[in-house]
Amino acid sequence: MLILGIETSCDETGVALYDTASGLLAEALHSQVELHAPYGGVVPELASRDHVRRLLPLVAIVLERAQRRVEDVDLVAFTQGPGLGGALLVGASVAAGLGLALDKPIVGIHHLEGHLLSPLLGEPRPAFPFIALLVSGGHTQLMRVDGVGRYAMLGETQDDAAGEAFDKTASLLGLGYPGGPALARLAEAGDAKRFDFPRPMIASGDLDFSFSGLKTSVLARVRALGAPDDRTRADLAASFEQAIVDVLAAKCMAALEREALQELVVAGGVGANARLRGRLEADAKRGGTRVYFPPLALCTDNGAMIAFAAALKYAGGAPPMGAGFNVFPRWDLERAGAQSTPRT
Ligand code: KG4
Ligand code: ZN
Repeated sequence: MLILGIETSCDETGVALYDTASGLLAEALHSQVELHAPYGGVVPELASRDHVRRLLPLVAIVLERAQRRVEDVDLVAFTQGPGLGGALLVGASVAAGLGLALDKPIVGIHHLEGHLLSPLLGEPRPAFPFIALLVSGGHTQLMRVDGVGRYAMLGETQDDAAGEAFDKTASLLGLGYPGGPALARLAEAGDAKRFDFPRPMIASGDLDFSFSGLKTSVLARVRALGAPDDRTRADLAASFEQAIVDVLAAKCMAALEREALQELVVAGGVGANARLRGRLEADAKRGGTRVYFPPLALCTDNGAMIAFAAALKYAGGAPPMGAGFNVFPRWDLERAGAQSTPRT
């Protein structure tokens, strides 16, 4: 079955073709980073318009790279939520249009389910059941994954997501958008022990997170320092990153222990963070567990994870979806389960 995957939930237009017999055939991505950079964050209306401009040309590129015709597509999968309403609608409209024109089914995929299952695209593949840490710009969640569509929430952030904390802290250190990668680069040269930032909720006894206080504490320190020099900014970045990594790692290890599982899967944009990767790998080794990361290119938003999630969910036969379509800007993954649309 040949699946066309379309991702337009935020600021990346991603398209991919996945063949259930031979794997990922081609993918293409357009990042809107330059478009939004002057505004310091994603401008939803600009995002939607850019998806409109980019999506069909990217579909053509992917078909060309894979040497397939659009008529060869058996199933069109698109990100149905969560995300920016207008941006989601672009992907949903194109998917619905293609479905109607080709007389092929379309399926809506939960964006986080795409992230969650993307490590299964790499080698070695984790085996169910496992613990998943979802760390993106909008979410920070620990889930127990017993199989495709079988997700139980173990804990989540009470306020900011980890990626959001990276982005906001980067901005108050004078770094541009997107902040996470820029902050990580600055932190490489810094001393992570210089500033003792709080590790929020590290000893809370549950698997929830909170990052807004950490960001505020960096803000207070930056203000107290006046205009920190480059060295100090690098130390602030490294100390902040270390605090986040300490909390994420501690909760991951606690989740593995609580659920008596040995495998941890990390997904979402913050999964690209080198300090987090190094720390989780070291902790896992010490604890006799294994940690899996998606290939770096799959950590951030992309079409491949959407096509692949559809492959895992619907290889045995896609549920037909009517000509109408919906998007769900807010959508709870636990309730997404094996269904193609949320129960509201
Ligand atoms: O999963 P993703 O691409 O989009 C969402 O669905 O949110 O994640 C984007 C987030 C942003 O907050 C970005 O700053 C963060 O992932 N990020 C990083 C790194 N690369 C991306 N955060 C820390 N270190 C990185 N290397
Ligand atoms: Zn994402």
